Amino acid sequence: MSLLPELLLTVLFGAQASFTHPGIILPSKELLGDSELKAIIKRTQKSRDAREVLGFSPRIWEALTETLRAGNDQLTANKYNLVPRVRDLVILGRNLLATKEKAQNYASDEGFEAEVRRLLDICVDKASKPIAPNIDKQTHETEMHIKGNYKKVMITTLQFLNNLMSQNETRKLHVWLHMFGTPAASATPNPAVPTKGSQKSNGKNSQANKPSPGSGVGIVSPGAPSTRHSHKETVAKCNFLSAGFNAKYYKPGFLTEVPRLLQPDEIQPLPMMLQNGVVPLEGTDHAMQAVRCKLMLAQGYGRSLLREILVFLGAWEVDEEDFCFKMMTQVTEAILLNGLIPYAYESFRDEKDIVTPAQSVLLKLLASVYRQPETGRDHGTNSSSCSFGTPTPSVLSESPTSPVTDFGEAFDPPPIIESSIPTFFAAVLRKQVIPPTIRIIKLQGAIREGKAKKETFELSLWDLDRIYEGLYQFFELLMLFSEDEEAKRVLISSDKGIVGDLVVFLRELDKAIPRWVASKSVPQPPSPSPPSPQEKEMGRGGSDKALKVNEAYRVERPFDVYPGAKDEEGSGDESEDADDEEPNDDRGLSEPEEFTWPHIKRYLVMLLSGFSWQNEAVQDLIREKGGLQAVLNQCMIDDDNPYIREHAILCIRNLLENNPENQKVVKALEAVQAIPNEVLDRHGYEHYIDDAGKVQLRKVKGKGVSSK
Ligand SMILES: *[C@@H]1O[C@H](CO)[C@@H](O)[C@H](O)[C@H]1NC(C)=O
Ligand SMILES: *[C@@H]1O[C@H](CO)[C@@H](O)[C@H](O)[C@H]1NC(C)=O
Repeated sequence: MSLLPELLLTVLFGAQASFTHPGIILPSKELLGDSELKAIIKRTQKSRDAREVLGFSPRIWEALTETLRAGNDQLTANKYNLVPRVRDLVILGRNLLATKEKAQNYASDEGFEAEVRRLLDICVDKASKPIAPNIDKQTHETEMHIKGNYKKVMITTLQFLNNLMSQNETRKLHVWLHMFGTPAASATPNPAVPTKGSQKSNGKNSQANKPSPGSGVGIVSPGAPSTRHSHKETVAKCNFLSAGFNAKYYKPGFLTEVPRLLQPDEIQPLPMMLQNGVVPLEGTDHAMQAVRCKLMLAQGYGRSLLREILVFLGAWEVDEEDFCFKMMTQVTEAILLNGLIPYAYESFRDEKDIVTPAQSVLLKLLASVYRQPETGRDHGTNSSSCSFGTPTPSVLSESPTSPVTDFGEAFDPPPIIESSIPTFFAAVLRKQVIPPTIRIIKLQGAIREGKAKKETFELSLWDLDRIYEGLYQFFELLMLFSEDEEAKRVLISSDKGIVGDLVVFLRELDKAIPRWVASKSVPQPPSPSPPSPQEKEMGRGGSDKALKVNEAYRVERPFDVYPGAKDEEGSGDESEDADDEEPNDDRGLSEPEEFTWPHIKRYLVMLLSGFSWQNEAVQDLIREKGGLQAVLNQCMIDDDNPYIREHAILCIRNLLENNPENQKVVKALEAVQAIPNEVLDRHGYEHYIDDAGKVQLRKVKGKGVSSK
């Protein structure tokens, strides 16, 4: 073991020589050096002693640094063939960091960390270079291979950085300043808070780093819920901790491109770093985690990176069970706890999108945060502070504070975010989302009626898909809000609420978007308990899955089936076959103006149903806005909106209950349109509260058709 450092030093000097003076070392010797290095790496993977004897040696770190620097120089000069050898150096460094403090300090002090950041920067540059067109297959393959190698290095450097900062609040802060820029320097590289339209983000290709001072969030906003320390104390601490910031190879923003270059199984270290730096995990200084969370959002580079990761999750359709998604859910929760969700949402805005892809994913993550059981939100789990190839770390004590003050002043004061999350999103929905969506839907209706030309519809299916995704996520979130008493109060309040807007939205959808019935002769089987959003089994854009689930309930029918529930406007190619296993989805809807906004009507009915339950003011408002008729019109089967008939019937009953005025209106409507029996039939049905705490309707036992 005592010879190990000497052996490694020899190997490193050899590698360095071959980097700086190519050809000076015989190829056979080079190969020998490579395999010796690999053997040492193996030992550091297995043996703690090996890690310590190397990781605690400043000479080793110095030699590693020199060698990596030489390697980096070569990579800059396009010596691709050296990429694997350079990567081995970082793997070794990463492994040695498993010994924590001492090794971390050496890695940082000897400048190895700076060279790793430089290497990451080189990798991003090389891996993002477009491959020239019109090259032969062989060359193309070679290019792809080289890029692949650079990506591997990139992943290793991210792992290195994660291990480097693990468990040391100061170093985490320093890494943050390197990643996102120092506040002091923010006058120059600090990008603007994207004001309306200042951002040229179009998903995969966005860069909003225009400098514009005076627009950050305060690094420490007073009263952050997770902050136990006082504002002053934390600012002082930041100043103290950032004092030792080593600006060697300072190039903030070097991570922004990374999400565009990697795939879901490769990018893991990046969300992990964010989680490590901002989530109040057990064993971390929660005040410092909060500071870094704010720093990340205050700095344009932080917001850009965050946006790229969100766009990444959306573009790859990363599953909620995926590691990256879970990490980002925790990061989102940290943002939420720090009161910065509205700020984040606004900064991902873009004039040409009703909801940008990044915003959609943010909504989805937020919904996922709200869905977690309270216990699951306790981050005292052992997932905390993961590092790569290392045993579970111990907890370090906090660093002392010292009264220095200019750190906090480097930021402008935070925008006042006093409104609660539901209030904010209700306002966004009312102002930014519903009106432009209604304009689109109205135009669709006008085209259907021949009052407008097809050519006036300028959105592509792709555009609609983006809008739809945002809308869908909004409604998922609203469904969660509607289950929370406090949030629900906001949503139905007369000034900040959205009931009227939802009614108008439903009316427009009802007018312009036809129902669709997949198989004419098979009535929509009812659901004894309509699915909650949590258990939504339908895939967006299609109701196939939901219908498949329904097969099981086909014999059961708590409601009378309304005869002739078919919409005369239904599409022409409905299946006649009652035994069709699958609904016939071959509608030939390929024109953008025929987009049907699946599930949205159903969400609207469900929300109105919940809001009107034993609430006279809401019942009245819905009537005044013309909502009774609109909801009644939904008492029909629509395979784009599974179970909408049942939800609408329940909704109408909620609207009529103890409301003579509403009952009168519906009675009057009965003269002109057929109304399902169970709506007006006061007997034979009863409300009940299901397991999920939702109001449902069921047939009273012993009356009429048997129910479950
Ligand atoms: C944490 O990092 C700082 C700055 O990089 C360093 O000075 C300090 O010694 C580290 N703390 C420990 C306990 O290693
Ligand atoms: C976390 O670790 C502690 C002991 O360190 C253990 O008691 C606990 O069960 C672990 N929790 C989980 C979620 O693994």
